[in-house]
Amino acid sequence: MKQEIEKQLQYIEKVKEINKGNKLKYNILTMGCQLNENDSEKLCGMLDKMGYEAIDNLNEADLALFNTCCVRENAEDKLFGKLGELKRIKNTRNIVIAIGGCMMQEEHITEKIKQSYPYVDIIFGTHTLQNFPKDLYETLTKREKIKDIIDIDGEVYEGLPIKRDSQIKASVTIMNGCNNFCSYCIVPYVRGRERSRNPKDIIAEVKGLAKEGYKEITLLGQNVNSYLRSEKTGVRKVNIEEYGEVDSFAKLLREINKINGIERIRFVSPHPKDFTEDVIEAIRDCNKVCKLIHLPLQSGSTQVLKAMNRKYTKDQYLELVDKMKKQIPNLTLSTDIIVGFPGETEEDFEDTLDVVKRVGFEQVYMFIYSRRVGTPGDKMENQIPEDIKHKRFDRLKALVESQIQQNNEKYVGTVQEVLVEGLSKNNKNMLTGRTDSNKVVIFEGSKDLINKMIKIKIDSECMWYLKGIIEN
Ligand code: 5AD
Ligand code: SF4
Repeated sequence: MKQEIEKQLQYIEKVKEINKGNKLKYNILTMGCQLNENDSEKLCGMLDKMGYEAIDNLNEADLALFNTCCVRENAEDKLFGKLGELKRIKNTRNIVIAIGGCMMQEEHITEKIKQSYPYVDIIFGTHTLQNFPKDLYETLTKREKIKDIIDIDGEVYEGLPIKRDSQIKASVTIMNGCNNFCSYCIVPYVRGRERSRNPKDIIAEVKGLAKEGYKEITLLGQNVNSYLRSEKTGVRKVNIEEYGEVDSFAKLLREINKINGIERIRFVSPHPKDFTEDVIEAIRDCNKVCKLIHLPLQSGSTQVLKAMNRKYTKDQYLELVDKMKKQIPNLTLSTDIIVGFPGETEEDFEDTLDVVKRVGFEQVYMFIYSRRVGTPGDKMENQIPEDIKHKRFDRLKALVESQIQQNNEKYVGTVQEVLVEGLSKNNKNMLTGRTDSNKVVIFEGSKDLINKMIKIKIDSECMWYLKGIIEN
């Protein structure tokens, strides 16, 4: 694998040579989750080294890059809309068009591109992202269309350049892929089976980030708390002994907690079934691990959860919440919920509302069920009509918003530890930061507080942010 990356680094040099003297520009559009964003940071890192400069205006770009997601339907409309726009540009001048990411692992999509959008230059999938320099070199030199997609799981690769979006918070991918096959979800088909990075590489990366001044680290994976499980069960053949003593997610948290300079550790997304005792204890013991935990519910109905293949019941989920609340002081929870999964009855939906009322989530990410080609959910006959899905979604949204309002009131009068992230977007005289529970806090203060942890006394709240003053 090391040789493979060295080869790519050579291609980076070759493209840089071709581009010498030309101030080439690229425009990147990223859809989807934080893992995709992290992949885009790697693509930007490679482009940077190849002599390209990032710009926001597509009309001035020499290279248009689109990193796609396919978890929900509207993503497809967005891609094809974008491809229409790019055709107009391609008709007037030579622009390289490259499309990558999860959607490219779906054959019906790549077929459609081949048939209807033949002017796309490079198509690459989730397992071949690291080949981007070679793909680009070949397009530039041979003027050929490149399709670089493989179905087998990609290797875990290290050592590619990266250009991060923030100088305060950084994402670190710790594992890729998913073995769970929730019946609504396309991810296991487009991201392949679970592959974890060697803990030594992760720890080295976080230490490097701490040195560069980063304060907050988010550990990423489709299923972070099953980190190294495939390696330990032998599903993925590696010599786990070579990985050293850090052989579980809980131990990884404890190790990263020791790294000087890092103030906060977050992680997404875990699966409730993998919240073993050691993980709960590590969250409790590690002072830097934020106590906002994302615990995807998906549905509150045991019957729907079974059809979704989630491997827990409503009661088991609530028991886990109780157990975590008891063991972890100041715990707050966020979640993902899908409404309108096939077969969801009014009663099932009421169960979802019931769990939401009982848990009192800090944040709920709500989704309307979207049929994904190739998943078991898509083949189920009892699909829910669109109007019912939307009505349920609106009811859930109303409940969640009333809860957030109530919850916000609890902050007023408290003192919160805030990581200062920068100037407020809407008011440049104010600073913005976030609490441990990821709430946005707006306050007055001097710019040199940026990237510092400070205490803020909250004095008022709005739906999406809190306001406060610096506590001396
Ligand atoms: N339809 C709607 N929402 C989905 N999610 C995943 N697949 C689908 C789908 N087919 C949601 C889940 C997951 C989040 C990232 O996206 O709630 O946790
Ligand atoms: Fe999709 Fe389920 Fe895997 Fe999450 S755990 S990526 S929802 S299959």
